[in-house]
Amino acid sequence: MSIEVRGITKRFGDFVALDDFNVLLPSGQLTALLGPSGGGKSTLLRIIAGLDRADAGSVSIEGVDATGLPAQKRDVGFVFQHYAVFKHLTVAKNVAFGLEIRAHGGLRPPWAAQRRADRARIDRRVAELLELVHLSQFADRLPSQLSGGQRQRMALARALAVEPKVLLLDEPFGALDAKVRKELREWLRRLHDEVHVTTVFVTHDQEEALEVADEIVVINDGRVEQIGTPDRLYDEPANDFVMGFLGDVTRVNGQLVRPHDIDISRVPLLAGAVEGTVARLLRVGFEVRATVLTDDGEEVLVQLTRTHARAVGLEEGVTVWLTPVTGAATVPALPSMRSAG
Ligand SMILES: Nc1ncnc2c1ncn2[C@@H]1O[C@H](COP(=O)(O)OP(=O)(O)OP(=O)(O)O)[C@@H](O)[C@H]1O
Ligand SMILES: [Mg+2]
Repeated sequence: MSIEVRGITKRFGDFVALDDFNVLLPSGQLTALLGPSGGGKSTLLRIIAGLDRADAGSVSIEGVDATGLPAQKRDVGFVFQHYAVFKHLTVAKNVAFGLEIRAHGGLRPPWAAQRRADRARIDRRVAELLELVHLSQFADRLPSQLSGGQRQRMALARALAVEPKVLLLDEPFGALDAKVRKELREWLRRLHDEVHVTTVFVTHDQEEALEVADEIVVINDGRVEQIGTPDRLYDEPANDFVMGFLGDVTRVNGQLVRPHDIDISRVPLLAGAVEGTVARLLRVGFEVRATVLTDDGEEVLVQLTRTHARAVGLEEGVTVWLTPVTGAATVPALPSMRSAG
């Protein structure tokens, strides 16, 4: 196991930010920490990085107990939620920064030959990294002359420069618009497939987690709600919170179900189907969203394609019967659903 978090508890005053938190993250895996704002994601990442101390518990990295180690001894690369760049240094110098510190502890070696050898090695490594993040042509620019997405890639190159054992990314694409985020997350996935560094990636965007991660840790109120592959979490959510956080949910017959997992028909074909009336039909692109008022006063959202809606003969005011499709993920609806993001 590459990162092992055992029994981590972190308090800020009376407030418990992490409550006896346990997780094992295998070597080389790309893990998403997914959860609502304030759930404890950044706190956990900072404790793994050694930037914060837990009140109880232990962290080990590659089998080494890191609990007492300072951040710079943990071999961890970090990209912050709101990270800082060196504004007066070029892109290449920003990426080289960690390498220069490591090469000679920030001191100038006394021998010119040594300085030249260090320089050549660092320049080679920086060139490789810039190529990896597709920024070779911007090496001599200042960070202010890059787009937001390019700056984030620079930050990643800087974190990767010292060949960390572990890469920790705290919402690295948080501030960017949806289209750039989507490009960067595909790029991150490909980068990870090339480099294979154990990576923990914080996000509160479920689509980002589902698309990028090998495994997702759903974290809420300082606790693990569920850990699993994207498919597992989506198809077999452990509870109403996970189900609601990973996608839209609606409620039929006391069960939570995804709106596209409901069979809707104008005749009572299936035993146990719930009768209702189509109150609203909303057409958005390829999909139709129907709001159905059931006889027992539930409002059910049903999602289907335009073609399907036409085949069923959906119109506002018609009577329909609803039932979750066979094999759909369902979770018993609790009397009061916990908030899901
Ligand atoms: N230094 C601090 N002092 C007091 N409380 C803190 C401190 N840092 C974090 N907290 C609290 O701990 C909880 C968890 O914070 P954390 O930053 O880990 O959340 P998060 O999951 O990263 O949220 P977001 O998605 O908004 O970044 C929050 O309620 C926060 O207010
Ligand atoms: Mg955070």
